[in-house]
Amino acid sequence: MADTVAPQTIGIIMNGASGRMGYRQHLVRSILAIREQGGVLLADGETRVQVEMILVGRSEKKLADLAAKHGIEHYTTNLDEALADDRWQIYADFLVTKARAAAIKKAIAAGKAIYTEKPTAESFEEALELARLADEAGIKNGVVHDKLYLPGLQKLKRLIDSGFFGRILSVRGEFGYWVFEGDWQPAQRPSWNYRAEDGGGIIVDMFPHWNYVLENLFGRVESVYAKAVTEIPERVDERGDRYPATADDAAYAIFELEGGVVAQLNSSWTTRVNRDELVEFQVDGTHGSAVVGLFGCKIQPRNATPKPVWNPDLADEHDYAGDWIESPGNREFENGFKTQWEEFIRHVVEDAPNEFDFLAGARGVLLAEQGLVSSREGRRVEIPVVALEAGAAASDAAASDTAAIAAAEAEFAGAR
Ligand SMILES: NC(=O)c1ccc[n+]([C@@H]2O[C@H](COP(=O)([O-])OP(=O)(O)OC[C@H]3O[C@@H](n4cnc5c(N)ncnc54)[C@H](O)[C@@H]3O)[C@@H](O)[C@H]2O)c1
Repeated sequence: MADTVAPQTIGIIMNGASGRMGYRQHLVRSILAIREQGGVLLADGETRVQVEMILVGRSEKKLADLAAKHGIEHYTTNLDEALADDRWQIYADFLVTKARAAAIKKAIAAGKAIYTEKPTAESFEEALELARLADEAGIKNGVVHDKLYLPGLQKLKRLIDSGFFGRILSVRGEFGYWVFEGDWQPAQRPSWNYRAEDGGGIIVDMFPHWNYVLENLFGRVESVYAKAVTEIPERVDERGDRYPATADDAAYAIFELEGGVVAQLNSSWTTRVNRDELVEFQVDGTHGSAVVGLFGCKIQPRNATPKPVWNPDLADEHDYAGDWIESPGNREFENGFKTQWEEFIRHVVEDAPNEFDFLAGARGVLLAEQGLVSSREGRRVEIPVVALEAGAAASDAAASDTAAIAAAEAEFAGAR
């Protein structure tokens, strides 16, 4: 076992590396792929920083198997020991959401740079606290913003930057697919996702994504109206046991954005796919429209727009799908998780810019929290601007919402 990591190598603690995201996206598709290519290329275009990793988890057997399978030298079930070791400069977190904040606080105290999955915490208050603690400790921090790196969304960004849309009017997004209940076919997602008490729920899962997608492409989210539902009340877990599904598994939402764009996004694990891809966004602008997915991007400029005429008496033979033009990639798109990892490593090593920090993560958690408030109260909720110092204002807004719910419930109980 090497005592030191060579200076051109950066050491990464990978906590939760045996989980679904930790293993597939972060270990195999990102860090091992970076190791395989000889490291991260720095801004000078010549120097590479190689990665070395230590896997952390609760099951020694699982870690040993993974390490052997991928030729990884280091693994441990003792996070504190890994955090105390100077060979590891970055702490990366892919744990279940519920376990994240406590582990990240330890990593902040240990002075590590931190890169984490979203959501950063279970409540906005805690997410903001992490951002403040990281800021006070002066440590570099980053949060996964993977959807922005998808080829389809990269092409969309290019269209926006080129002025293709003219004035953007609206965004309509559909995310989802059928997640099996677990009885006659095993579920394809972990069961904790369907238990609110374990940090599950589609709003908590997806709204942090929607927040960074919307704010980076179209404008800050100023308000949300959401309806969350639990369509399937009982599911079957990994061990074959039935459990009550206490978390929302579908959410229908309208977001108003700075600049006037309206975005309607449906998120559902209880829908059957009749789209080209598992997520699709249609963007309509005065000069053109686009439909983008994970990979694809179709456009329709205003001067190639058909002129439909509504006539319920005649079957419409027009091939509307055929009116769209596929937008070319014009470059290679790599796995988005890997690209963001490379950017974060460059942020740590040579101070390359990184906007996707804990504060951005906290904004995502706030949107999820307020989406749930909106659903409970059946009203549109305004989203305050979040800043490290102005955080108290946003926390107050969340607290007064909680007080409003309590008052409404008390009134309801009194009226019975
Ligand atoms: N960026 C994305 O697109 C995306 C997609 C799915 C999930 N996620 C996020 O990634 C995280 C992990 O999700 P997943 O689907 O990989 O889940 P998972 O259940 O497959 O993996 C979770 C990991 O956490 C560990 N763990 C579970 N309970 C723990 C505890 N109490 N203490 C310490 N470790 C514990 C597990 O052993 C496992 O390694 C979640 O926060 C989720 O929101 C992100």
